[in-house]
Amino acid sequence: MADFEAIEFDVVVIGAGGAGLRAAIEAKQRGLRAAIVCKSLLGKAHTVMAEGGAAAAMGNVWSEDNWKVHFRDTIRGGKMLGNWRMAQLHAQESPDRIHELEAWGALFDRTKDGKIHQRDFGGHRYARLAHVGDRTGLELIRTLQQRAVALDTEVFMETKILRLLKNSSGEVSAAVGYQRPTGKIVVFKAKSFVLATGGIGRSWKYSTNSWESTGDGHALALWAGADLIDMECMQFHPTGMVWPLSVRGLLVTEGVRGDGGVLRNSEGKRFMFDYIPQIFAAETADNEDEADRWYDDHINNRRPPELLPRDEVARSINAEVKAGRGTPHGGVYLDIATRRSADFIQRQLPSMYHQFKELAGVDITAEAMEVGPTCHYIMGGIRVDADTAASTVPGLFAAGEVAGGLHGANRLGGNSLSDLLVFGRRAGIGASDYAEGRTSGTDVDSAEIESVIAEAQAPLTRETGENPYDLQRDLQDTMQNLVGIIRTGSELVEALDSINSLKERVKTVAVNRGPSYNPGWNLATDLPSMLSVCTMVTMGAIERKESRGGHTRDDYPKADAELGKINFVQRLNDSGEVLISPESLPEMPDDLKALLEEGAH
Ligand code: FUM
Repeated sequence: MADFEAIEFDVVVIGAGGAGLRAAIEAKQRGLRAAIVCKSLLGKAHTVMAEGGAAAAMGNVWSEDNWKVHFRDTIRGGKMLGNWRMAQLHAQESPDRIHELEAWGALFDRTKDGKIHQRDFGGHRYARLAHVGDRTGLELIRTLQQRAVALDTEVFMETKILRLLKNSSGEVSAAVGYQRPTGKIVVFKAKSFVLATGGIGRSWKYSTNSWESTGDGHALALWAGADLIDMECMQFHPTGMVWPLSVRGLLVTEGVRGDGGVLRNSEGKRFMFDYIPQIFAAETADNEDEADRWYDDHINNRRPPELLPRDEVARSINAEVKAGRGTPHGGVYLDIATRRSADFIQRQLPSMYHQFKELAGVDITAEAMEVGPTCHYIMGGIRVDADTAASTVPGLFAAGEVAGGLHGANRLGGNSLSDLLVFGRRAGIGASDYAEGRTSGTDVDSAEIESVIAEAQAPLTRETGENPYDLQRDLQDTMQNLVGIIRTGSELVEALDSINSLKERVKTVAVNRGPSYNPGWNLATDLPSMLSVCTMVTMGAIERKESRGGHTRDDYPKADAELGKINFVQRLNDSGEVLISPESLPEMPDDLKALLEEGAH
């Protein structure tokens, strides 16, 4: 019998980014015993990488803005694949969540008349991102963390969760994990659990994501029997650093373009203008109202083409590089220096200024940056009920990047910070309601706990075997080269074969040293999640035989109207294999359809 400690709560939140913190705050405010469990240190979550701002239709800069326009932008930006109810709640509730954050101490930049300033970002009709220079995610985390600590929330840092277990009536009742400093096993028991583990980007070679983003929550949900939707819909942020190689992929905030930066190729040409007619034709083929809006926004020049939605800008950059008009290091130039003063740049974009100065020796107030697409975000994720954030497994809730639905096939920049505030709160309410109403116990089968522990510790017991870093590198190469920004059927099949062979190799992983602070072992325990998640992304990408948002198929270059009405749902069958099936999107009510068709202003 393995040695472990069991700790009991009402609600356990896994993940300490914005969504997790916001969920825990809600449970604590209700007076419940709530804990946060996170793989890293408190305050270090990937939320800090949403630098440019949180989208909320407050109308501070453009009084014409309102939730209806935000709803419309989100659904249109997601290429009609988003969940209408989530988009509605998100657009309606974001302003309150921003004001609440301010009341809790967040210090947003101001307009001249003292309101919260709102920055321009791609795909948003009006400037609507509340921001703190280019460090918005950091301020959001700092504020929520202070609030959670003030409410005496228990936090288990550097703790990796391996599996969720259910009681005999099928409700999630325990999370089995280990503490990274010691390797000690710990079992959290609770009446409800919230997954807020963020994204999956570490399985690609070039990514904005930090080391934590190994898809743990997506995999935990899958293994617990939950449904996941549209896992093929990945976002490649148009602007990551391309040089030096050691920081390739690091985020260059869209705030640079929002504040006036433009993209140029190696010939100095502002190439995005060349892509408008193409994008315009692809996006608006069967919708005249939409065609009018596009013309107004992007041809009529009210907004620069650099602020088209991310999927379009990323593909355009990719095409320029492929056509031989890239920079020496395989990107394009992002130039703000010739359009804004040094003082403006240093005030609005202090992190970008320091990032390029320190890491690349580039002074962005005088020189252009070299940038290119980088894996940033997964739109797909755990299927949730929009109002309660409940997954399809009793007792399990999800919010933030790990949950699917809101962003459809492409997320608008700035919508993730507001997403995690709106749905973090809703998940906290949903999980608290569930915990308060739950009558069954939290007993789980001890043999299952033993088996989870044995599997996790196996790499420590093998004398020889595969090196986990070799497997990680091979997986990243596979995903980068075969399941990247432009995909094709034969390469996706090749990727699935490669993932399947990595699944065999992972069974033989061996690490040296003991379990205490052992990054090799930690990675060995991340690999099963990474492989499960990559399987889902690749299977989804094979099934979605069209190009939509972040999912671009070279062999199916157009959007297919019928597939635009379909979520691809993945779940495990009884033999533990991932099954995928198409299901119709929930039908949008007529009043919301009217907002899209007539154009909300
Ligand atoms: O570009 C950025 O600042 C990223 C923001 C986001 O992903 O929402």
